[in-house]
Amino acid sequence: MELFTCPLCFQALTRINRSLKCARNHSYDLAREGYVNLLTAQHRRSKAPGDNPEMIAARGRFLDAGYYRPLAEALCAAVTTGGTAQALADLGCGEGYFTQLLSDRLPTVYGVDISRPAIRAATRRSKSVCYAVASTTRLPLIDQGFDAVTVVMAPFSADVARILKPGGRMYRVSAGPDHLNQLKQQIYAQARTHDRALEELAQFALTNSHRLTFEFTIYGSDLTDLIAMTPMRYTSARHQREQVSQLDHLVLTADFYLDIFELAVSP
Ligand SMILES: C[S@@+](CC[C@H](N)C(=O)[O-])C[C@H]1O[C@@H](n2cnc3c(N)ncnc32)[C@H](O)[C@@H]1O
Ligand SMILES: [Zn+2]
Repeated sequence: MELFTCPLCFQALTRINRSLKCARNHSYDLAREGYVNLLTAQHRRSKAPGDNPEMIAARGRFLDAGYYRPLAEALCAAVTTGGTAQALADLGCGEGYFTQLLSDRLPTVYGVDISRPAIRAATRRSKSVCYAVASTTRLPLIDQGFDAVTVVMAPFSADVARILKPGGRMYRVSAGPDHLNQLKQQIYAQARTHDRALEELAQFALTNSHRLTFEFTIYGSDLTDLIAMTPMRYTSARHQREQVSQLDHLVLTADFYLDIFELAVSP
């Protein structure tokens, strides 16, 4: 069964050849690569929303070098513990590094990102994931269609509650206060630390919270990629970025929270 819905009328979509169609005959062609664009012009705030091709390429190279592999392992272990998750949606999935690893372990995985170049790259990475260009604020996914949702360093949307089955889980990864501190110290005159805002999410109960901290040594052009894929790209001075990219290597701390929320079963 297709778990995507029509972004115009919210009805279920059925696959007919290379298109997805709803009962009201709205039709969405599959791109050559196999993803579908469900971000209609009226719901798009800018012409090219989300991460741009340079950021996507930098993120892909950095992740493929394996620097965040411990995070990927922890996320996959958390999601597969208990073995109950069958269908998972990765929201703000980017170029699909984590999505692919999740899909190696679960029968049904969907990936959604607002950036078309991200989804295009993700589709090249894995053919077993169902990918759509869409915004998480208005998810074109069926009600109660998923056992689990992952949100890795991406914006949270209240619409997640609608697509989860009762008792379903959301796994949210966000940066901890020490994340990449040594790099921030190199780049900013005054590096600020920040902690995640663990807001009370309506309809969700926080069931578990892990903090994952590890060190890694990053070399040469991977440093430039790391800056290019983070907000540091915009918020730092060019000469600071250039100075850092001249460094042979840097020892960095990765600091992540993995928060697990469970959707309350409605009475
Ligand atoms: C920091 S990247 C993380 C990507 C991926 N989860 C990972 O960890 O490799 C954040 C992603 O969120 C996407 N994004 C931002 N706003 C979004 C929205 N409203 N709906 C869907 N995706 C969004 C961006 O395009 C980008 O790919
Ligand atoms: Zn429709």
